[in-house]
Order: sequence, then structure tokens, then C-alpha cells
Amino acid sequence: MSAGRVPTRAIGAPVDRIDGPEKVKGAATYAYEWPLDNPAYLYPLQATIAAGRITGIDAGAATAVPGVLTVLTHHNAPKLASPDDAELAILQSDEVAFRGQLVGGVIADTLEAARHAASLVRLDYQERAHDVQLRADRDDLYAPETLNAGFATDTAHGDVDGALASAAVRLDATYTTPLEHNNPMEPHATIAIWTDDALTVYCATQGAHRVRGDVARALGLDPRRVRVISPHVGGAFGSKGRTHADVILAAMAAQLVAGRPVKLALTRQQMFDLVGYRTPTIQRVRLGADAGGQLVAISHDVIEQTSKIKEFAEQTAVCSRMMYAAPNRRTTHRLAALDVPVPTIMRAPGECPGMFALESAMDELAVACGLDPVELRIRNEPDADPESGLPFSSRNLVACLREGARRFGWARRDPAPRARREAGWLVGTGVAASVYPVYRLPGNAATIRVGPDGRYSVLIGAADIGTGTWTALTQIAADALEVPIDDVDLRIGDTALPEASIAGGSSGVTSWGSAIVEAARQLRERLASDQAGMVPADGLEVTAEMPDNPDAGRFAMHAFGAQFAEVRVHQDSGEVRVPRLLGMFAAGQIINPKTARSQLLGGMTMGLSMALHEHSVLDPRFGHVVNHDFAEYHIAANADVGSVEVDWLDEEDPHVNPMGSKGIGELGIVGAAAAIANAVFHATGIRVRDLPITLDKLLR
Ligand code: MOS
Repeated sequence: MSAGRVPTRAIGAPVDRIDGPEKVKGAATYAYEWPLDNPAYLYPLQATIAAGRITGIDAGAATAVPGVLTVLTHHNAPKLASPDDAELAILQSDEVAFRGQLVGGVIADTLEAARHAASLVRLDYQERAHDVQLRADRDDLYAPETLNAGFATDTAHGDVDGALASAAVRLDATYTTPLEHNNPMEPHATIAIWTDDALTVYCATQGAHRVRGDVARALGLDPRRVRVISPHVGGAFGSKGRTHADVILAAMAAQLVAGRPVKLALTRQQMFDLVGYRTPTIQRVRLGADAGGQLVAISHDVIEQTSKIKEFAEQTAVCSRMMYAAPNRRTTHRLAALDVPVPTIMRAPGECPGMFALESAMDELAVACGLDPVELRIRNEPDADPESGLPFSSRNLVACLREGARRFGWARRDPAPRARREAGWLVGTGVAASVYPVYRLPGNAATIRVGPDGRYSVLIGAADIGTGTWTALTQIAADALEVPIDDVDLRIGDTALPEASIAGGSSGVTSWGSAIVEAARQLRERLASDQAGMVPADGLEVTAEMPDNPDAGRFAMHAFGAQFAEVRVHQDSGEVRVPRLLGMFAAGQIINPKTARSQLLGGMTMGLSMALHEHSVLDPRFGHVVNHDFAEYHIAANADVGSVEVDWLDEEDPHVNPMGSKGIGELGIVGAAAAIANAVFHATGIRVRDLPITLDKLLR
């Protein structure tokens, strides 16, 4: 660290992905690709009933297949130390909790032998009647103790019923969102190696330390004897944010063939059963407003599902607590526990489906009030967080709406629905707001080591799931150390590195970045005070924990945005096209405009996909998703995506973290589906309240 060298600031620069060349060359190693000697291959056995028990297993034919090492079932599976997580506690009994649940696996010298042998294993069952259908009229809906991320299940302020009854304008509508699956491009994959009571796991995960903790707990191992390695991950969207049973199955198999690496990659179809999904939701939204569109009441009641064996309660109505000023507000969440796989987080769990409902309802209210939907939102902008009463650390929703409207050409819009027709296509435009909280997860530390050569090694067990972590954290470290980014060598994705929280809740940069900035501060302080600014001959190393944010609890912290959509609906076929999307965001300091744009673009595209395509169809007779592949589970492809414009406002927020940044991984999906649904209404006069917006819903 020589004095007088003042690099240009790295934060804010559109630095190319540091991992880009390796990825392009195929040299970036993903979980399944680690070159290991003499691997064995694991192919899962899955339950073919939705509820009941296994009464018999005939593995004779499977065992006779050349190359088969062993057939793993609940008869010979290692006993787990902790059955507390019933999703992970597989092969501990003959019980089957959902169709597709892991009930065993075949281990063989080749994948082909394992897969063929698995098809020969005969399982007999005693079935129980199963219950897999979410309906609003179920009599067993219950209130969970809390929601995901620790949110309160229900909230109530003021007299909602009274305010609704006397409101000049009232809306009461029910919106539904379907079962959806995360579907990252890279499948869930694991290589597990058991040697001398220690376990090494190469794993596709959003959090190496998270997997280590879950695996160690389940197997009863000292976490120090478990190492998880995951430097490159090919997408996740939440399904890799929690440990799923496939990792436990691989670890069990590794124990049975100790010393030999065991490889397991789930097929796309298996992922529809085993790695979580977004719960379907049934959401009743009631809004009351005065004649000028000022909200007097917001009520948002959510019904969703969980698995009987493990509760996941999505925080669907939380945005309705803080988006708009309304003196009377109520939110509730109720769950049905079903014989289904365990739901999980999927890109903006809660905010994404919840804002589809709220932002559709706001559009309906604008129509009912005869107000422009941008203006309606501006009229209901709160001065402080309506829920906590805290000031916002920064909130630029109105600025996003105004600037987005200007760029989109919103002023030219004829407010009347079904007013524009071009060569057989009905054309409409719509708007919706976006929001995402600024999360900071506990359990982060960073080590920085400077060598006599003046290079800095920055070590933290963070994850890059394709988002740009490699690049963004290098930029943050460079600025905190006041050195050029070329002097920084980042290492992430390994539990041999200091502990890190998951790449989830768009919390990564805030959490890992805060730890890195603190370690850099301490290192520079040590260099200045103990070493007179000179790096000692054997280098210097500092490890620092992520400090608390002194402004936590003093401010409400969220990123905001405004999404605009143009849609075309064919007057005869009902086919929907989205030629244009525009998202204007305010997310504090953008660390890297190139990777940030990519995140927001991806979020908006996934929102378009949610609006028009994504729908996992559950067959109630059997309890499984029938369209469990990319031929039938439709995801927006290139031909579905037109022009997508992404930009952000300059926003300074000194309260969120030392970088002044807010998470952007999930912000882009929130509100996108509502903007499209609102545009579909404007184009056709038809309000579609249940996603996806397929053409049958537009043919009347
Ligand atoms: Mo994201 S769904 O919080 O991993």
C-alpha cells in the first residue's frame, strides 16, 4: 500500500465479470464437474404415491445389474442424528409424505447403470388418501406462528371494516397466483466424498456455510469436519437457498461407499419434486378510498400452502403493510398443510405474488376513481413507513414513477380501455410499483491478507449464483482498501473461507460487503498504526466480523421501482405479446451498472414469464406436477421478450450499509406481472386476476 496512489473509484464502474473469461472458456467449475478419481454415480428412487408407507422393496434385479455397488433404502440408510428437519430426514422410516419424495437410490460405477438399475427396483406401498388441493373454502386453514423472514402473520391498524363500509370508492377482488418452480439452468448437483469421518461436498448452492450447517446437523458431524465448495453456481432463484434432501442422499451414499466420490445431479423432472417451489396463493384485497383516490383502508388476506412435514409460510401481504398511506390496514396469512413437497423461497418470495395482487388492485381502484394509475400512487405516497412509523432511509418511488412515465411516453396514453387497435391487435399500457427490502443477514466475516508484493487476498464464503458477486465484491474491496481492482484477489464459495450468509433476499452485497469493508478498515488501521504504512515482510492478515448497522431499527429500508408495460392482445386469438417493458428503479448506489442491469433485466423477464407462462399443474389424483419439464412448463424465451429498458435514479442512502447500496436481485420481478396484467386490461377491458394470463382468459 504505497502512499500517493489514488485509484479511480471501482464502485459504480461497469467492470466486466471477473469470472466471465473462465465461464466462456468452460473453465469455471460447477458442482457436478469437479474432476475426481473413480467416482460412483447415484440415481434417486422416488415415491410413486402421495401418502402412505412402503410395505416392500425388491432390489434383486437392480443389484444384479453389472456395475451396481449398492441399493440405498430405509433398510440400510445411515441413521441421521437429527430428524428435526423432516424434509431432510429421508430414509429414516417407511413413511411417504409426498409423491416424488426420496425413498432411496442406486449407487453404481456408471450413471447409466445406476439409472437403469433404479428402474428395476420394485417398491410396494400401502396408500393413504391424500390431500393436495389448496382451496379458499377449506376448513383447516391455520395461522402460522410467524412468516418467512420473521414477519408477523397478521397485522391490524385502525378500523378497517368501518373505513371500508363508509368509503366513497370500494374495491373487493380476489387474485390468484399458481404453483411455480424456480428452475435454475444448472440442475441441483452434489458430489459427496466421505473420508475418515469427514465429508467434502461440492454443491450447487446459494450458501456453502448454510449447506455445511444443515448437513452437519442432520448427520451429527462436527461442522469443522464438513467442507462445502461452491465457487460457481448456474442460477438458483431461491431453490438453492435452502439445503434439500438430495444433498443428504448424496452424503448417505458417500458414507456407504466411503472413500469414493458420489455424484448426484437431479434431472429437470426430479427438480419439480425435490427442491422447492413458490406456493400458489389466493389473495383477497379490499381497498377503500375517498373520491379523490386517497386510500382510507387496505385489507389483504392471503391463503397459501405448505407441506404437512415442514412449514414454509410465505410473507405474501407484507408489501401491503408499507407501500401506501392508509390509516386503516389489515393483513392476514393462512396456510393449508397438504401432502405435497415443501415450498420454499423463489425470487422475491412474498413481495412478488403479493405485489401482483396489490398493484392489480391499485389499477382497478384508479379505474374506479377515474384517476391515472401513476397519479393514484403518487397521491398515496406515505411520509414514513405506515407499518413501523419509521422514516424511510430513502424512498424514491414517486421519482421512479415520474421519470419512468416520462421515458415511456405515458402522457400520450388514452385512459379508456380497448381504445387502441393496430392491425388486429388491441394495444394497451400498464404500470405497477416495485419494492424490495434491504436485508442484512447475520453470520458474516471476511479475511483480508496483504502480501509483501502489495497484493490483497480477500476471503469470504460468499456465493455467486450468476449475479456478479465475484465482480461486485472485488470492486467493494478495492475501494475499501483504496487500491485498483487488479490488486485484489477474491476467493468465495468455500467453507474453508470465513463464514458467510446465503445469496438470498438480495442481501449478499449488503452483508458480505459490510464484512469486507470492515476487514479493510481494520487492515488499513493496523498497517498505519503498527507498520508505519509498510507491509511487513511476511505480510499482514486481518479477520473481521460484519459490524451491526447503527441505523438498523431507526429507518425503514427498501429499494423501489416503477414498471411500465406495453402489451398487444390479438383480437381474434387472444394471444398476448409484450413488445415493451420499462423499469425505472431506485436502489441506492449501484455497485456495477453492467451486472446490475443484468439482474434487473432478468427480474423483469422472470416477471413477464410469471405474467404469461409459468404454471406448474398439479394433478390432484396423484399429487404430482404433470408438466414437469421445459417442454410443458413454459418460461419466457427470447421470442417472448421484446424491448426491455432498465435504468435507475441516482440515489444516495447513507443508512443502508457502508456502500450505500440496496439489493437488486429480486426488485426487478416485483410488480412486473401486475404492470403486464394492467396493460392487458387497458388493451382489452378484461381484468385477469389469476395468473398466468393465457389466451383462454381473454376470449369471451
Ligand atoms: Mo432469494 S428467493 O431470497 O434466494
